[in-house]
Amino acid sequence: MIVGSISEDRSFENRVAITPEVLKKYKALGIEVQLCKDYATHLGINDEEYKIEGANIIDQNDDIFSSSNAILQMNIPGDDNLNKLKKDQILIGVLDPYSNEKKLKEISSKNVKCFSLELLPRITRAQSMDILSSQANLAGYKAVVDSFSHFQKAIPMMMTAAGTISAARVLVVGAGVAGLQAIATAKRMGAIVFATDVRLASKEQVESLGGKFLTVEGSENLETEGGYAKEASEDFKKKQEELLRETLKKIDIIICTALIPGKKAPIIIKKEMIEVMQSGSIIYDLAASQGGNSELTKVNEIVETNGVKIMGETNILNKLPISASNLYAKNMFNFINNLYDKETKKFKINLEDEIIQKTMVK
Ligand code: NAI
Repeated sequence: MIVGSISEDRSFENRVAITPEVLKKYKALGIEVQLCKDYATHLGINDEEYKIEGANIIDQNDDIFSSSNAILQMNIPGDDNLNKLKKDQILIGVLDPYSNEKKLKEISSKNVKCFSLELLPRITRAQSMDILSSQANLAGYKAVVDSFSHFQKAIPMMMTAAGTISAARVLVVGAGVAGLQAIATAKRMGAIVFATDVRLASKEQVESLGGKFLTVEGSENLETEGGYAKEASEDFKKKQEELLRETLKKIDIIICTALIPGKKAPIIIKKEMIEVMQSGSIIYDLAASQGGNSELTKVNEIVETNGVKIMGETNILNKLPISASNLYAKNMFNFINNLYDKETKKFKINLEDEIIQKTMVK
């Protein structure tokens, strides 16, 4: 079997699906890897490094498409390349099936099998393939580092001969994968950290990282069977607002990560709440791509109101593309490993396997 990968559209994507590090693993399975020229030179990884680990570097995308059994990408390829996919080929990536429904239907009708990794079930067996977790974890870390670099005060408490600097106070809204990493990172840098979530199970996780959990009193646990959040009731939203309004007066930095799968992100930090925050505070809204958790978030912009900076970052993983690619490439390999039948030495689409069935775009 041969897997191939072409360059991503660099106008919005710096990550790659295959790193030199994973090539040995493909080789051990007996899978050949072919990549286009200058595949990751923008990350400081030259073609030679891939060649040393056994990859074939191919000049033309056409040749990659014509000879690969599977095409492994970060994002769905552009139309010019998508049209090159042919019968019985496999396409794997973060294909955004809801936005790309029409395109994916078209290529599926040519009998191309498409697998979208953001559809992976959150089951134990799929953890090593879980791109949502690996990327969200990095996003949570980077949101803290980025917001701290915009903050014009020191983060940890410092007692000096000239006086004491108090520790920065950080609130993390949404304590899922990104939120928990944000808490851990902010704590490590010396901040006092608060967090809130609609899932009560997250209280223990927040506390185990040294964060203070803000419980919305009298609220029910808004968690689905799959571990995700349910949309909050009006009553919950009101109580959450009252709780946060008081807290925000003393908060320096808010990291927003609250999401509800398949829905617009809940607006949690309202305009009136931002007005009570101290000048110089920062809201870093990681939920910006789904509309944002703050009412004033603008996608990919930094807006300032009453001295509070609101950052609506959507492409944060492009700011640490090497780490993000390394984890993604491992997730991708683990997915391939599950798809590859070691006896026949071919890819086998076993729809009884929950991982394969749930990620396949029909
Ligand atoms: P997510 O990205 O969908 O949401 C982020 C967080 O926002 C969640 O914790 C959610 O409860 C919270 N949230 C939503 N609405 C909110 C509101 N109005 N106010 C405050 N918080 C709100 O979630 P993510 O990070 O993908 O994790 C979801 C779940 O999946 C978690 O329970 C996590 O532990 C679990 N998980 C399980 C894995 C497994 O393999 N078993 C792997 C990764 C995550």
